Amino acid sequence: MCPDDSAIRTRTREDYDVLTKRRVQLVDFEPCEGGFLRDVLDGLGQTPKTLPCKYFYDERGSRLFDAICELDEYYLTRTEIAIMRDNGRAIGRAIGPGCCLVEFGSGSSVKTRLLLDHLDDPVACILIDISRKHLLESAAELADQYPDLQVIAVCADFASNCELPCPRRAAARRAVYFPGSTIGNFRPADAEQLLRRIARIVGRGGGLLIGADLKKDRETLERAYNDRAGVTSAFNLNLLHRINRELGADFDLDAFRHRATYNAAHGRIESHLVSRRAQTVRLNGSVFRFERGETIHTESSHKYSLDGFRALADRAGFDVQDVWTDERGLFSVQYLTTR
Ligand code: AVI
Repeated sequence: MCPDDSAIRTRTREDYDVLTKRRVQLVDFEPCEGGFLRDVLDGLGQTPKTLPCKYFYDERGSRLFDAICELDEYYLTRTEIAIMRDNGRAIGRAIGPGCCLVEFGSGSSVKTRLLLDHLDDPVACILIDISRKHLLESAAELADQYPDLQVIAVCADFASNCELPCPRRAAARRAVYFPGSTIGNFRPADAEQLLRRIARIVGRGGGLLIGADLKKDRETLERAYNDRAGVTSAFNLNLLHRINRELGADFDLDAFRHRATYNAAHGRIESHLVSRRAQTVRLNGSVFRFERGETIHTESSHKYSLDGFRALADRAGFDVQDVWTDERGLFSVQYLTTR
């Protein structure tokens, strides 16, 4: 079922311009603000303390993430782009003509363009992102670059259950594009659940083009998440800055430092904020005590073997149709189809 036009609402003058002059349709399921406070109180109340990584991406966080993608150490983005560049035609053939493309997370316009340029007669592109401003910018850019393509922006947390709009033209199939190894930021059980949901979204005969980072030596992995310029550190600490600004907490940012290490047993990089001293932090009437050296676990970035990813896909109801990797086997782009 498609949501009717009442779900399409505008907020600011700038949004209005994007939506009317630049031909972008917006479906708004922006999560309510109370969710952020609830999740932070909940995470800091746990032992060990934790915070959800989806809150990294405020405006500054999104800019810092863009800067991470340009870093020498962060091989993921440039390797994935090279794979898309080298295999664009084969990828386009695998997906087939007349598809409705649904992109999870709209932060990858270069990759989206590399894909769209190789798709035969796509009927529409639906972008789903939690960051409204970022979403509208990406959607407007895409609409300008592909004047014949219907571009629909859906402001939502793609991990939640939101209904997708139907494009004007009937599609031969739906294909979800989920680049960037963002699947790695989900715990295996949650990743399976998310893939299951994608399988339902695309339905029988639909597909999923997904970027998944591969297991490799510890040194390469830890360098990617501990860059010399300190951009990843600023990205991680920005979460505390955001909590102070938006929720009125009193985190002393100088009293925490970034740490990222590879946990081989779980096959994941774990990012933490380490308390430099014993301290207390206040938020919304609650007091949180930190020992010296105690950490907040802010992110996990899971790394897969090709077999491990195939098994995950299989559990979620997908067959792995094609796998493209770089020469060094650092990263994979995979096309999965529903059975
Ligand atoms: C978005 N995500 C796949 C990135 C990752 O590699 O886990 C986020 C990131 N965190 C630190 N550097 C990049």
